[in-house]
Amino acid sequence: MHCIRKITGDVTWVGANDRRLAMFEGVYHVPRGVAYNSYLLCDEKTVLFDTVDKAVRQRFLENLAEALGGRTLDYLVVQHMEPDHSAQAIELLTLYPSLKLVCNAKTRDFINQFHEFDFGSRVVIVGEGDTLETGRHTLRFIMAPMVHWPEVMVTYDSADKILFSADAFGCFGALNGALYADEVDFEKDYMDEARRYYANIVGKYGAQVMSLLGKASALEIDFLCPLHGFVWRRNIGDFIGKYSLWGSYTPEESGVMIAYASVYGNTENTAEILAHKLRSRGVRSVMCDVSVSPASDVIAEAFRWSHLVFASTTYNAGIFVTMESVINDLVSHNIQNRTVAIIENGSWAATSGGLIREKLEECRNLTFLDCWLSLKSSLKAGQLAQLDRMADAIAATFTVPESSDAALPGSIDAKTMFKLSYGLFVLTTRDGDKDNGCITNTAIQISENPRRVSLAVNKANYSCGMLMKTGVFNISILSESAPFSLFERFGFHSGRDTDKFSGQEGCFRTENGVRYLPEFANGVISGRVVECSDNGSHMLFTADVTTAFVLSGEPSLTYQYYFDHIKPKPKPRAERKAGYVCKICGYEYEGESLPEDFTCPLCKHGASDFERITG
Ligand code: FEO
Repeated sequence: MHCIRKITGDVTWVGANDRRLAMFEGVYHVPRGVAYNSYLLCDEKTVLFDTVDKAVRQRFLENLAEALGGRTLDYLVVQHMEPDHSAQAIELLTLYPSLKLVCNAKTRDFINQFHEFDFGSRVVIVGEGDTLETGRHTLRFIMAPMVHWPEVMVTYDSADKILFSADAFGCFGALNGALYADEVDFEKDYMDEARRYYANIVGKYGAQVMSLLGKASALEIDFLCPLHGFVWRRNIGDFIGKYSLWGSYTPEESGVMIAYASVYGNTENTAEILAHKLRSRGVRSVMCDVSVSPASDVIAEAFRWSHLVFASTTYNAGIFVTMESVINDLVSHNIQNRTVAIIENGSWAATSGGLIREKLEECRNLTFLDCWLSLKSSLKAGQLAQLDRMADAIAATFTVPESSDAALPGSIDAKTMFKLSYGLFVLTTRDGDKDNGCITNTAIQISENPRRVSLAVNKANYSCGMLMKTGVFNISILSESAPFSLFERFGFHSGRDTDKFSGQEGCFRTENGVRYLPEFANGVISGRVVECSDNGSHMLFTADVTTAFVLSGEPSLTYQYYFDHIKPKPKPRAERKAGYVCKICGYEYEGESLPEDFTCPLCKHGASDFERITG
């Protein structure tokens, strides 16, 4: 029976999962299975993006037939010829006699290598930037050689803003009913598998990944559809951010991967003591026994951490076999930009350390710490000081906060306050016929019985005076769908000289007569002020909750989400006009000079927190 899922009105996922595969590509363990994604576009023409592995052929063919709904298949775009994505290409050409295969010249060569098929006129060769019109959709082909194989290309659909990204942005793991990354806790449950997939499958080709990211940066992307793993429709920038770290071999985290190979436990014991010494110096570490940790896990950890320690016994006058294999793998995956320390062991002729270093010297930008430790069978008490020196040398390379006096008693870095987590809300008030609203981030529940909330409002806000006078208000709790225009409307102007509700459709009020936001908010709280205290720049209001209702199940908007996903990114320097930028929240003021009494309309900080934008 078919098992498909719509992505947009015209695009359907017709892929399938394999949970019985032991080793992906015969090398990588996939204990959580793997998904083979294929996507069908039904426009005036029907277009399939890639097929699946032969192991899931039957489900895929059922899915495709169902999604086609009796139509024929006009085009098969082969973005990646690797057989886990092209196994049904020839079969489909037989099943659908008018089907044309769309691919680049390299792909056609590869297909012939695998199948020796006579395409005749049934192949459409495309190159960089070529397009295919299918009706409402225009498909643009973008070459992505070596993201994983030389023939790889990706496709951009400008109608639905979809990037069909081939192997890029993939992940190990079967889809368990969730198609979208936002339907699971990706960071917690899948990021490790996404990193392992990246590091092992395309880790060697960082330069080519960066080139693809460069091309993708010019595209507006609403959906990212890879050939393995989840489809992305939210927080796409976050995942692309991971790719730009991985692609540029930039460590994701500060800390140490200690990989060790130990026959009788003495090298392991030394590695373990080092891990404790590091932790007592505030340095995080993870440990991998390379004899039991699959190599793909070790490679992934090496792509994650900033520092690498290799501790290996000597074996047959060389590096211990499992460590040698890991080191070879790391070199061939092009690991770069790491700080490295080495521990060797050998009962009569320790050579492993020198050999490890020799191999790693093939990699770019590795810094070898000058704290060699050579063991004879086991660590001796007299060598603990050497291990301490290694821990000191590693710890010394971690960046110390620039202004160490920031931690001195009494010194205050205003940005620290932004480390507090906040929501974002529209506070609405009404005085006679005048409706007003402003953005606030300070509403919290302070007691259950009586049910009370507090909110702090900047005295400069018109709403503050209104609230002091009337004592009644609504808080519309903003959801992640809130657009930037809402912040412009309620946050960038004063209610003294603007009607913030002008042009708004409908007039939604709670029983206290105050307006609220029927959209872009997931709940509304009405309050009556019971106490108000002066706190310098802000008035603090304590209020009884008089009404509260939920509007939607959408996630509440946090201050961090606003900065990451809603607030427009600063323009490239070259495009910026003369002006000033708020160092606290990033608000940009255009103009040659900033008035001394200027207050940031977003975060309410004064002119002293602005700095000049230089071209
Ligand atoms: Fe799943 Fe490079 O292929």
